[in-house]
Amino acid sequence: MSKTEELYRNRVPRTRHDVHVYQRTGHTMPWFVPATILDALQSFEVRPSDVFLITYPKSGTRWTRKIITLVMNDANEELIDTDIPFSMRSGYPEFHINEDDEPWYKKLEQTNGRRFIPTHLIPSLLPPQVFEKPVKVVYIARNPKDAAVSYYHHYMTSPQQIPYKWEDYLSVFLSKNMAYGGDWGSHVIPWWERRNNPNVLFMKYEDMVKDLRKCVREIAAFLEQDHLSDEQIDKIVKLCSFEYMKNNPEDRGDRFLIDYWKVDPSKSPFVRKGKVGGWKEYFTVAQNEEFDQVYKKWIGESGLEMEFE
Ligand code: A3P
Repeated sequence: MSKTEELYRNRVPRTRHDVHVYQRTGHTMPWFVPATILDALQSFEVRPSDVFLITYPKSGTRWTRKIITLVMNDANEELIDTDIPFSMRSGYPEFHINEDDEPWYKKLEQTNGRRFIPTHLIPSLLPPQVFEKPVKVVYIARNPKDAAVSYYHHYMTSPQQIPYKWEDYLSVFLSKNMAYGGDWGSHVIPWWERRNNPNVLFMKYEDMVKDLRKCVREIAAFLEQDHLSDEQIDKIVKLCSFEYMKNNPEDRGDRFLIDYWKVDPSKSPFVRKGKVGGWKEYFTVAQNEEFDQVYKKWIGESGLEMEFE
């Protein structure tokens, strides 16, 4: 049993899944992204009109999902289904939480019109056609220290799970064994390298926190929704503000957390702190130094610079 499996094994005691992670072509994958679905996605038909949102987990996916949904639907909030089950237009194709449900990618296959497809998959596990057809990809990158803390809360603080020491978790985060198929670097860098591709919009979480209106406009332009009026943009900014989302049970994903993860949403909300630099409250000096070493390797010569405060 790998170290990661050992560390995770007992942590989802109340689901019917006895394994929290498994190995897939050298990647550690979570139980709710089964190998059968990953296989099926290798032949998933991508359409040129598709819009993908690709993120490393805990990088503002739910936030950007809402922004993109509103942008694509002319700021019409009635079309938003941020609660779970996900709307057919924005289900994660790799998720298969309840084996009795139809897989999300099948629902996507039956969807007409412009599809919006959020995913956390690393490049090698994505449907290959993502790189072959001129689909639009919005990639959101968040500095890995804040993403690590956010992920820690997401998985570690629920009462269903055996408390897990921060330092043990952090060593897994820095390893290649983090459960979503690879480390932060192998997720972010390939998209950073594609940032000049006209079909790729590479955006940073920290920039969204700094100037949400500017980022919403950028997303609208990228998705050829330039016709959105100032009023519509204002509405999107308001509906996607941290304060608004924090106070909205649907945006917080309460039902999903209760029904699927079996966790207490007040402990692990999808909309938690929404800050840049929160990691400082968690990292010791030694942990920060170790993290910086690994981060340097992740970044390599790519030229990517993230903001940590
Ligand atoms: P924190 O846990 O650091 O607060 P994901 O949706 O990929 O799981 O990302 C979750 C992170 O995005 C959480 O970070 C959450 O608070 C943050 N987030 C969600 N909505 C946000 C908003 N409107 N503004 C800023 N951050 C937001």
